[in-house]
Amino acid sequence: MKKKILCILLLIFAVKAGASTGRSIYNFDFDWLFSRYGLQADGTRLEEPVAAESILFDDRNWKQLDLPYDWAIEGPFRPDLEGFTGKLPWRGIGWYRKHFKVEKKDEGKRLYLDFDGAMAHAEVWLNGKKVGGHPYGYTSFRVDLTPAVVYGGENVVAVRLNTEDMGSRWYPGAGIYRHVRLVKTSQVHVDHWGVFVTTPQISDKEAKAVISVKLRNHLPDPVKGHYAVSVYELDAEDGVGAEVAKCKSLSLNLPADGTLEDSVTVTVSEPRRWSLEQTNRYLARVVVFDGKKQVDTYEVPFGFRTIRFTHDNGFLLNGKRVQIQGTCNHHDLGALGTAVNKVALERQLKILKSFGCNALRTSHNIPAPELLDLADKMGFLVMDEAFDCWKKGKQPGDYGSLFEEWHVKDLEALVCRDRNHPSVILWSTGNEVPEQYTPELGIARYLTDVVHRFDKTRPVTFGASYPSKSAMNGTELQVDVHGMNYAAGVYGGPHFYGEFLNKEGHEHLSGFSSESSSTMSSRGEYFPRKFHVSSYDLNEPGWGGLPDQEFAALDRYPAICGEFVWTGFDYLGEPTPFNSDKTVLLNHAAALSKEELKKQEEELKKIEENRPTSRSSYFGIVDLAGFPKDRYYLYQSRWMPDYPMVHILPHWNFENKKGENIPVFVYSSGDEVELFLNGKSLGKKQKQAFEYRFRWNEVPYEPGELKAVAYKDGKVWAEASVKTTGAPVKLKLTPDKKILKSDGEDLIFVRVSVLDADGNEVPTAEPLIKATLDGPGKIVATDNGDPTCLIPFPETTRPAFNGLYLAIVKANRGANAYSGGYPFSISGDIRSVPS
Ligand code: GAL
Repeated sequence: MKKKILCILLLIFAVKAGASTGRSIYNFDFDWLFSRYGLQADGTRLEEPVAAESILFDDRNWKQLDLPYDWAIEGPFRPDLEGFTGKLPWRGIGWYRKHFKVEKKDEGKRLYLDFDGAMAHAEVWLNGKKVGGHPYGYTSFRVDLTPAVVYGGENVVAVRLNTEDMGSRWYPGAGIYRHVRLVKTSQVHVDHWGVFVTTPQISDKEAKAVISVKLRNHLPDPVKGHYAVSVYELDAEDGVGAEVAKCKSLSLNLPADGTLEDSVTVTVSEPRRWSLEQTNRYLARVVVFDGKKQVDTYEVPFGFRTIRFTHDNGFLLNGKRVQIQGTCNHHDLGALGTAVNKVALERQLKILKSFGCNALRTSHNIPAPELLDLADKMGFLVMDEAFDCWKKGKQPGDYGSLFEEWHVKDLEALVCRDRNHPSVILWSTGNEVPEQYTPELGIARYLTDVVHRFDKTRPVTFGASYPSKSAMNGTELQVDVHGMNYAAGVYGGPHFYGEFLNKEGHEHLSGFSSESSSTMSSRGEYFPRKFHVSSYDLNEPGWGGLPDQEFAALDRYPAICGEFVWTGFDYLGEPTPFNSDKTVLLNHAAALSKEELKKQEEELKKIEENRPTSRSSYFGIVDLAGFPKDRYYLYQSRWMPDYPMVHILPHWNFENKKGENIPVFVYSSGDEVELFLNGKSLGKKQKQAFEYRFRWNEVPYEPGELKAVAYKDGKVWAEASVKTTGAPVKLKLTPDKKILKSDGEDLIFVRVSVLDADGNEVPTAEPLIKATLDGPGKIVATDNGDPTCLIPFPETTRPAFNGLYLAIVKANRGANAYSGGYPFSISGDIRSVPS
C-alpha cells in the first residue's frame, strides 16, 4: 500500500489585539458545550431541561466541541425522512453553552458577540439574562453582552436553537454552523458594519473613494470627536502595503447614547482596478478619536471597479464585457455539512474556477462571509441572495413565516455586511416567489427600494420562474436587472424576449439567466442502476433544460448577460428525479395546465411509493465529494475556449456489452475531433453551429482503447483516451496538499482511486475501502459522490463509487508544539472487491 506522508504545522493563534487601537476581536469558536433536546437523531424525543440558560445549570455531561458545528451532519441518514432535506435528522432543539472569563480591567468596555449565522431561531443569554437572538438562520447578527457581563469573573453564554418547525426545500443544517467572535470596544466606536466605501469615480489617473462612517456613542453625555481615514494597498494574503491616501473628518458632536453618520472623500492616484484576473484590493482604516485619544480602529477591504448591466451588450466590468459563466450553489460543503470551513470553501471555488466558472449565485440565502472574502481574492462575481420566498411561503415554517417582521432587518444585515466586497455585483431579494404573479401589489419594487436604502451602487434582481408568464407581466419593471430562471426557450427561441426588450419603456432593461439547465446525472453511471441518472448529460426535469440548450439560446441572443447554472456542486437534499417535494413543481405551476399538474403530482406520489434512498442532488456539474462529472468538461469546453482540452465519455469497461452499440460523446474546446477505436478511425466530426458536443451514437463495443484527437483551425489541439482496464488490485491516494496546519480548521482532501495492476484507474471498481490515519489528527468525513449512499459521513469504511472515494483529514487543534510539524500517514485498505 502506497503511503503518503502529511505534515501538520503548528499555527500560532492570532488575535487582533488592541489596547492601543481601541478594538479587540477574539475567535470565540472553541470549547463550547452542547446538548440536543426535543427531536433526537433517531426520531425519539428528549425533554428540554428547565433553565438551561441559567448560570447555575449543570452542563458537566454535555458534549464538548468547537464551532462551527452542524449537529445533524453525522446522521444517521434515515430512510423515513424526506429526501428533499437530505434524509438527515436536522430537526430538533440544540443548546450551546460556553464558560469564559472577562478580566476586571475590561470594565468600561463594550462587549459584543458576533454570530455569522446560527440555524435557527437563535436566542442568546449571558449569565441567565436574555441579550438577543435572530430567527433567520442565514443572517449574521450581533448581541450586546455589556449589560450582563461579570467583570473579573466567570461568565456563561447560552444559546438555544430550534429547527423543529422550520421549513426548507434543501438541507439547511442545524446549530451554530458559522463562526462566532467576541468583540471588545470603547464606549465610542464605529457601529456594527459601520463603514461603507463607494467608488463613484474611477479613471486610470485617479479614483475617488467615499468613506461613510456610522459612529456610536454609548455614553450618557455627548462626545466631541473626529475620525481619520487612511487607505492602503492590500495584498492577496491580506498583508497591508503602502498608504495611498488619507483624510480627516471635521470635529463631530456625537449625541448622548446615539449615533452619527458622516463621510469623507479621498483620492487615490493611478488606482489598480479589481477584475477577475487582477483581484487588486485596498484597505480603508478608520481611526476614531474622542477629543485627542484614539478610541477605535475599524478596517474594511474594498476594490475599485465599475459594473454595468447593459440593454444590448451584456454585463460590463470596468467597461469590458464579461460573459457571466456562473453557477448556483447551496451552502453545504458535502460530507462536512453546513459547518462552514474556509478551506473546504476554497477547494470548491478552485474546482469551479478550473472549468471556467466566474460567478456565484448564493442560492437562495445569505452566504457565509468567508465566501465573499474568497470571491474577492480569487476573482468571482457574486449574486448575493437573501431569500427563497417572501410573504407567501413554499414550506410551512420557511421564511414566509418571518417575512412580515424580519425582512427589512435581514436585508439590512445582508447589504450592510456585504456592500464593500468588489465581487458582489447584484443583490437578489428572492427566488421563484409566488408574488411574481401579482405585480400589481408592487412587492418586488418595494423590496428593491428597501435594498437601495442601504446600497444604491448595485442593481437589485430576483430569480423569476417561467418568465413569459411572470417576469414579463410587469414584475421585471420593478427590479433593476431582470433575472430569469429557465428562460432559454424564451430568449433563444422565437426571440420573444428580444421583442419584449425592444418595447417602448423597456430601453433600460437588461436580463440574465438567474438559473439555467438543471441537468441531472450520477458521476460515472452510463447505464444507470436504480435511483441513478445517466452521465450522458441528457436528462432534465420538466422545467429545466440541457446545457447545450442554454448555450444555443445565449449564442442566438447575445444581449443576455450570461447564466447561473443549477448547480455547480451536487448538494444535500432535493434529489430530483427521486424527490417527492411538491414545492419545486409548484414554482413552475404557471407553465402547466391543470391536467399536466395533476399528472406530475401523481408521479410525485409514485416516487414516494418506490422509497428511493436518494438523499442528495444530481444537478451538480461536480459531485458531492468534489469529483468532476462528465458535464464538467462540457462547461470547460464552452467556458475556457482557449484551453486545449478533449474529454471522452463513457469509460470503456463494458465486459458484458461486447458487440453492442455504445454511444460515445466527446467534449472539446477544439472545432473538430477524430475518434479512434483500437487504432481504427471512426471518422472526423466538425462542431456544427449551435451544437456543443461531438457524438458517435453507435460505436460497437470491443475492449481496448478509444482515443480522441481534437483539432483547432486544422492543427492538433488536444488528445485523450480511455482504456479498458484490468481488475482492481490497489489504491492510489492523492492528497490535495502536503502540509496541514493544526489550527482546528485546515483540511486535507485525499482522493482515493482504485487501480489495476498496470496503474490504470478502474472507473467501475467499487471495493469497500477503509481509510486509517496515524498521527495527531482525524479523518473527519469520507464520501464517494454516490447520491443514494446512506452510510453516515463520519464512517471511514465505505465502498468506492465508480472508482473513487474521498477522505477528509483534520489535524488535532494545537497538537503538541514541535516546529518540524507532525508526520502522519493515511492509508487505504481494499476490504473487499465485488466480483
Ligand atoms: C428551481 C428552483 C431551485 C431548485 C431547482 C431544481 O426551480 O429555483 O431552487 O429547486 O428548481 O431544478
